[in-house]
Amino acid sequence: MPASESSAPGKVILFGEHAVVYGRPALAVPVNQIKARVLVEDPGQNESWIEAPDIGLNSPLKELSADHPLLLAVQQVTTMLGPGPQAPARIKISSTIPIASGLGSGAAVSVALARALSAYWGRPLADEQVSELAYRIDQNYHGTPSGIDNTVIAYAQPVWYVRGQPFERLFCAAPFHLVIADTGISSPTAAAVGDVRRRWSEAPEIYEAIFDRIGEIACQARKWIEAGQPDELGPLMQANHTLLQNLDVSCPELDRLVSSAMRAGALGAKLCGGGRGGNMIALVRPETAEAVASALVQAGARRTISTRVE
Ligand code: PMV
Repeated sequence: MPASESSAPGKVILFGEHAVVYGRPALAVPVNQIKARVLVEDPGQNESWIEAPDIGLNSPLKELSADHPLLLAVQQVTTMLGPGPQAPARIKISSTIPIASGLGSGAAVSVALARALSAYWGRPLADEQVSELAYRIDQNYHGTPSGIDNTVIAYAQPVWYVRGQPFERLFCAAPFHLVIADTGISSPTAAAVGDVRRRWSEAPEIYEAIFDRIGEIACQARKWIEAGQPDELGPLMQANHTLLQNLDVSCPELDRLVSSAMRAGALGAKLCGGGRGGNMIALVRPETAEAVASALVQAGARRTISTRVE
C-alpha cells in the first residue's frame, strides 16, 4: 500500500478566546512556519505501529493505554471511516508546534493524522469531515471546545468563527505582521477553560458582560481587517488582553511579554489561546518586527516567530 503523508499548520487566535466557548465570535489565523506532520506507511508486518519521537513514543498501537490520546485519535478516524479494509499501518508523527502553548498542536496532529490515515486506507476524508474529527478528538482533552482550533487548522485559512455556525473565511484586505512569543510555560487549555467555567457559573452576569465586551472587540477587529486598516487592531488587542486578565487567564510572564512588546514599538499585544502560559502575539510594522522580537527574548521569551497574515 503506498505511503501517505500530510501536514497541518499551527494557529493563533487574534481575538475572542474563551468568550468563543460561550457563543461570542472569534478570529483565528493559521501559522504556516510551524507544522505537525504525519507519515503513514506499510509497517512490513501484520501489526500497526506508532512513533512520535517528540514525546518518546515508539510502540505497537495495541500496546497504548486505552485512554492514550493518540490511540483515541486513531480510533476516531476508523469510526468515521466505518466498515472497510484497514490494512496495518506504521504511523509516524512529528511536530514543530510546541505542546500546550496555545498554538493548536493537538488539533494540527489530529488534522494531519486524519488526512494521512484516511488517504492511506484509500478513503480520503473531506475538509469538513477532517475538521469534525479533530473537534471530536479535542473533546477528549477538554469537554467543551468551541471548535475554532479544528476549523482554522483543517481549512488552513483565516476564519471568523461563531460556535455552532458554519465558519466564515476572514478576508484580510491588507497584510499585517505578528510576532508570536512563547513564555515557555506549558499550560493545558482544559485547566484554564475549566476555571473560567467555574467562575462563570458562580457569577454569570459578571462573566457574560466580559464575554460580550470581548465579542464586540472581535466584531470591531473584523471590520478593520476587512477594511484594510490592520494598524487599528493594536488598541483592540490591548483591550482584549485586559479582559483576558479580568478572566484570570493571564499570568505575570504573559503580562511581562505584552508590556515589553509595547515598549519596543508594537502596535498592540495580547495573550493568545488558553492563557496561563503558552504564547502571546504582538502586532508590529515590518520595520519594528526585529526590535520587538529581541525585546521579547530579553523579557524571557523562549522563542519568537514572525509571521505575515494575508
Ligand atoms: O489554547 P488553545 O490553542 O487550545 O486555544 C483555546 C481557545 C479557547 O477559546 C480558550 C478554548 C476553545 O475551545 O475555544
